[in-house]
This record gives sequence, C-alpha cells and structure tokens, in this order.
Amino acid sequence: MECTIVINNAMTIRTTAGLLHATPQLEGEGMLVTRPFPTARLDQLDPFLLLDRMGPATHGPGEAKGAPDHPHRGFETVTYVLEGAIEHGDSQGNRGRIGAGDVQWMTAGSGVIHSEMPSEEIRRDGGRMHGFQLWVNLPRRDKMMKPRYQELRASEIPTAKSADGKVAVTVIAGDSLGARATIDTRTPIIYLHVRLTAGARFTQPIPATYNAFAFVLGGEANFGNEIARENDMVVFERDGDEVSIASDNGAELLLIAGVPLHEPVARYGPFVMNTPGEIRQAMIDYQTGRFG
Ligand code: CO
Repeated sequence: MECTIVINNAMTIRTTAGLLHATPQLEGEGMLVTRPFPTARLDQLDPFLLLDRMGPATHGPGEAKGAPDHPHRGFETVTYVLEGAIEHGDSQGNRGRIGAGDVQWMTAGSGVIHSEMPSEEIRRDGGRMHGFQLWVNLPRRDKMMKPRYQELRASEIPTAKSADGKVAVTVIAGDSLGARATIDTRTPIIYLHVRLTAGARFTQPIPATYNAFAFVLGGEANFGNEIARENDMVVFERDGDEVSIASDNGAELLLIAGVPLHEPVARYGPFVMNTPGEIRQAMIDYQTGRFG
C-alpha cells in the first residue's frame, strides 16, 4: 500500500522535461555561436525567445566580427559578457561598453537600431570573447514602450555563496541565496549564473507558474533524472516549486526562469509582436526611418 503524506509548506522539487544538446556553429562572419533555442525542436520557452552563447573563442588580429547596425522591436535583449568586451551604440547616440562580468539589459520596446561589436582592441589585436545573449519577450502592454537601457558593471551585480561555500551564484535577475538582483524586469524573471564545486548541491526556489531551464556551460550537472554537460539545455517541468542541482566534480550553468506571457507571438527576425499586422507595421516603420 502506498500512502502520501502532505506536509504544509514543504517545497516540491521539479523534475526535468527533457534535454536538448546545442552544437556550436560558425555564423556567417566567422563567430562561434551555440544556440539551444530557437530550433526545430523548441521555438521558444515563453517568455524566452532565444539564447545564444558567443564563443568562447580566441580571435586573431582583425578576425573578431560582431553585429553592425540592426533593429529590434517588441522584446528585450540581455547581454552578459564573461570574457572580452562588447561595444554598443544606437541611433539615439547611446554608447556603452560591456566588459567581463557586466550585463546590459536592453528593453527595445518601440524600437532601437544598434550595433554590437567586439571592442576595438579585440577587433584590432585579437583576444578572447565569451558571452551570452538572451531574448526576453515583452507583454503586449510593454511592446511599444520607450526603449530603456540598464547597464550593470560586474561590481554592481550581487553575488552569493552557499553556507558550505560550494555554490557561488551571480544574481542577474531575481533572488538567490539571500541576494537580490538590482535589475528591474517588466515581468518576473530569474537569471542566475551558478558555479558548483565538487560535491555541491544547489536548491533554488522557482514558483510552479514559471517556465524554467538550465544551460550548462561546463562540467557535469545532475538534475535528478537527467545528467547534463556542456551546451546541454535542461527544461524543467512545472511540477514543483524549486529546482535542485548537484555536481560530483563541479559544473557551471545558467539557470533562467520567468512567468509565461500566454500571448500570441508573431515573430520576424528582430521584430517580435502579437499579430502579423504589427510585424508589417514594424517593417514599414523601420523602412521609413521611424525607429528612434
Ligand atoms: Co541586437
């Protein structure tokens, strides 16, 4: 006979829904990009539209390429640099440099035209580049908001350690191990960079209403019913209110979660709206110079 004991306030560990391995690809300009989604298997994980890992790669002099002027409307791009530096500039005259450990959370809203390039020194002299870009969808009410930039230096991003010292977390969005992110998000988002040393176990509360995934950067991470390695994306079921990750020999990963918008998604390249008509309008506005 089986019996189930329900204890008040007990947290339930989420199981995993599956594992997707992403293969690094050389993009047109010779940049190494690993893209766990969108793919033929997973077009989005509401509210997340895309994750790119750029590098890690060592470029020779004159080799490093970036993304010259291009538009965005209707969502946010979150750039997190681990090695090297990215120079950012937009058509409104905003300029910035995102160095190692820094984050730029750009809310494109009604539209920006910007360039994202490896720093001038890296383009000229060569060097290491490693970073991430996450696309976060905006709810209908925010798609045409005024563009907004939040730029945090590495020193401004909260970090936390577990009591046993085996888990270190950089808290880009949300809360973890008692540390709270300073970034303001339009909808509730958790974005953590987690480093586990040998024998570590990390437990993170994530409400059951959130979609959640992990992307492993290196080492070997144990999710209970799934073992994941470099460039594996693990999607969690919404069957509990915390995730638990262990590692025998160490692992590094991103843990990302957010409340799904449950809105229609009309998507065309750098424009993500709710209807095909809004996509046509975005193209007209871009072509007629009405993008900032
Ligand atoms: Co961009």
